Amino acid sequence: MTVRMRRATLGDLSLICRLRVQRTAWLTARGSDQWTVAGRGRPIEIFADAVGRALDAGQTWIAEVEDRPAGTITVNQRSDPGLWSPWELAESMIVHFMIVDLNFAGRRVGHHMLAHAAELAELDRRDWVRLDAWTTNLGLHDYYRRAGFRLARIAQTTSGPSCALFQRRTSAWAIRSGTRPVVADAQRRLSTTTTLD
Ligand SMILES: CC(C)(COP(=O)(O)OP(=O)(O)OC[C@H]1O[C@@H](n2cnc3c(N)ncnc32)[C@H](O)[C@@H]1OP(=O)(O)O)[C@@H](O)C(=O)NCCC(=O)NCCS
Repeated sequence: MTVRMRRATLGDLSLICRLRVQRTAWLTARGSDQWTVAGRGRPIEIFADAVGRALDAGQTWIAEVEDRPAGTITVNQRSDPGLWSPWELAESMIVHFMIVDLNFAGRRVGHHMLAHAAELAELDRRDWVRLDAWTTNLGLHDYYRRAGFRLARIAQTTSGPSCALFQRRTSAWAIRSGTRPVVADAQRRLSTTTTLD
């Protein structure tokens, strides 16, 4: 299966919001309050504002499978207050808003998007890929462990419900997967294509 990563544009905002709504319903059906307003998740309008800012900054990506949008990820150097420390942020790429369309579940599109984040980290000479996961969703924590991440800590902050801090060294992707493309120049930052096993 070939997955192509392209930089998202403002025209992708409705797609990204649709994926967020789709997966929030999926999570609720599984008994999780992840991303629900009742669980202190962002209302969809606030989510759209945040993604809109990331789109403007060129930080959001779409994964395409056979030219169809299959998922999205945002990668930058910021996190919500009280999560990662300033020195941790300085050595990291931070993953946000990672979602795979249910129609593409089970095809490792998420793993591909995480590898893309690692590629961006390597280009920017950052040693870690880091993210925060919903504190109470242990199934999600298991997903990140299976993807090679380790729990750094549960952040002690009252600022939100997503305080499980996971990290993986950028170099671990090259060592383990062997599928990451060689990036020869900055131009390739705009689009990469890899084939997953
Ligand atoms: C996390 C995600 C991007 C991973 O995509 P992927 O690598 O293509 O993997 P899949 O969608 O096939 O999911 C792999 C497994 O993780 C589980 N999983 C994924 N997200 C989960 C979540 N939020 N809570 C509990 N389990 C989750 C899936 O149920 C699946 O389990 P299975 O193998 O027993 O069927 C995708 O599952 C997704 O969009 N999840 C919901 C949104 C989400 O939680 N995003 C991460 C925010 S930090």
